[in-house]
Amino acid sequence: MKTEDKVLRVLKSSADGYVSGEELSKRLDVSRSAVWKEIQNLREMGYQIEAQPHSGYRFLAAPDRLFADEIQWGLGTEFVGKRIFSYEELDSTNDVAWKLGEEGLPEGTCVFAEYQKKGRGRLGRSWAAPKNKSLLFSVLLRPKLSPQELPRLTLAAALSVTRAVKEAAGVEVGIKWPNDILYKEKKLCGILTEMSAETDRVRFVVLGIGLNVNTRAKDLLPGATSLREITGEDIPRVALAQSILRELEKDLVRLKKKQFDALSEEWEEHSETTGKRVVATLLDRSVQGQATGIDRDGALWIRTDSGLQEKIISGDIKHLRGKS
Ligand code: BTN
Repeated sequence: MKTEDKVLRVLKSSADGYVSGEELSKRLDVSRSAVWKEIQNLREMGYQIEAQPHSGYRFLAAPDRLFADEIQWGLGTEFVGKRIFSYEELDSTNDVAWKLGEEGLPEGTCVFAEYQKKGRGRLGRSWAAPKNKSLLFSVLLRPKLSPQELPRLTLAAALSVTRAVKEAAGVEVGIKWPNDILYKEKKLCGILTEMSAETDRVRFVVLGIGLNVNTRAKDLLPGATSLREITGEDIPRVALAQSILRELEKDLVRLKKKQFDALSEEWEEHSETTGKRVVATLLDRSVQGQATGIDRDGALWIRTDSGLQEKIISGDIKHLRGKS
């Protein structure tokens, strides 16, 4: 752990607030001038730390930055976020998490970035977000699912984000099949699931989440929204990230326990798709009709105008008009 992180930990866990320079230097085994330098570094990073001549240093507030140590502090999960890598800038968090997957890092390892140069969306689209305003991260998973069962994981992740957004920002959102998070038909969050698999075994999965948090209207694409646009306030991103990781762990445990019916029931409660007229664009054709719901595997059922029930396993859908 870096000395600055150690300084922070001591300050944050001090019961009465203040820690003297002498105590910090003893506990971290560095000189008092080194302590002072670290405090200055932390202040430059945006931490508010008070210095009182007779009492010492006191932690006041952390900046709204996605530092790995900040996200881990008080997270309290068993495996999601036990290892966190955090970057100012990279191409795509999914690419980095994929490499970590190949290197054998454990399930739950996370990669966060303040900015992505080549952020990727589903179906070959790009995902762009301005610096320091969003949540852009990927979670490495090693689920004991067959490749065909992967849609369940995708649905579960959408539920985790939905609950976390409610808890951390007080906003009720809906889910568009399979896992777009919407607010009043505008896209708030997208999830990109990529897997490394053999024919019948998933080696690992990278779950990439892009959530517009404090993005201003001018930086949003048409049809997109952010929590700031919805609430009119900036939302602390670290607390929101922690909440997503905690909720995700709960849903992964539910998946491990094979509670698929409970997951699909909860998904239906939040579904913006069920009951709507939709058009699904598949590789070679499109299917239009009324979405009638998902099955326990996460596939979407569409009743076409000729009365046929079509099962859509993956693809892109468009909501055509309100529920009928
Ligand atoms: C979608 O098309 O709706 C999915 C968007 C997923 C974007 C996230 S941002 C973090 C992670 N890294 C990426 O390159 N993409 C995902």
